[in-house]
Amino acid sequence: MAGLSKENLERARQTIALYPQARSAMLPLLHIVQEQEGYLTEEGMAQVADLLDLSPAEVYGTATFYDMLFTHPVGTYLLSVCTNIACLLNGGYELLEHAEKRLGVKAGGTTADGRFTLEEVECIGLCGNAPCLTANWRFFGDLTADSFDTLVDDLGAGRLSETVPRHGTLCRVRRSVGLTAAGPKGEQAKPPPEEAAAPASEAPQSVAPGTHDQPPSREGAEKAAKQASEVPKTGDTASDQGSGRRK
Ligand code: FES
Repeated sequence: MAGLSKENLERARQTIALYPQARSAMLPLLHIVQEQEGYLTEEGMAQVADLLDLSPAEVYGTATFYDMLFTHPVGTYLLSVCTNIACLLNGGYELLEHAEKRLGVKAGGTTADGRFTLEEVECIGLCGNAPCLTANWRFFGDLTADSFDTLVDDLGAGRLSETVPRHGTLCRVRRSVGLTAAGPKGEQAKPPPEEAAAPASEAPQSVAPGTHDQPPSREGAEKAAKQASEVPKTGDTASDQGSGRRK
């Protein structure tokens, strides 16, 4: 990999600008790498580390924690067959066995042509349509051996390319409005005209550059301390105040 493409590098920089702390952009940046390469290459993770001023080990540690991020090559289509309780009771294991036979690989394997990776997963939240699977995280339910074969044929022939993009693509719609963080350096993000016209209570709040990093002024700190002393105490710890329990 020669690194992120020019367009993806720009997307990465815009994404980083959305967060008060650059490291908070790590997951979106890893998804950009995975979208470009199909999985997280070592070079890709190193570039993310570089962009976020982190060590490659910190990025690798995060990348290996999450199920949707892969540090090894994945087929163009990742088929994730659920075998949890609702699917198990409705033929989930039979579906997985059929998938293994049809694709010629065991769960966890990738076909020789690099087109399909098969995996067994826990509940994917489509229990009402068990047995089911996701293909690159798009849902397919009420499957039978025949409908699985049809799905594989259609994916292989590119007939579902509108519904199921290649592995790594989370979303093909790019956000162009509604950003709430600062824009280019030194400029405050401006809301689009219709949002600017909305009543103040409904308009999205933009965050001025440096707001999260700068200490409050002395005058502000004194005012906050005075207000805090007037608030009745409801508990001794943060968890008391945040749990919603009554004493
Ligand atoms: S048990 Fe399979 S989707 Fe919930």
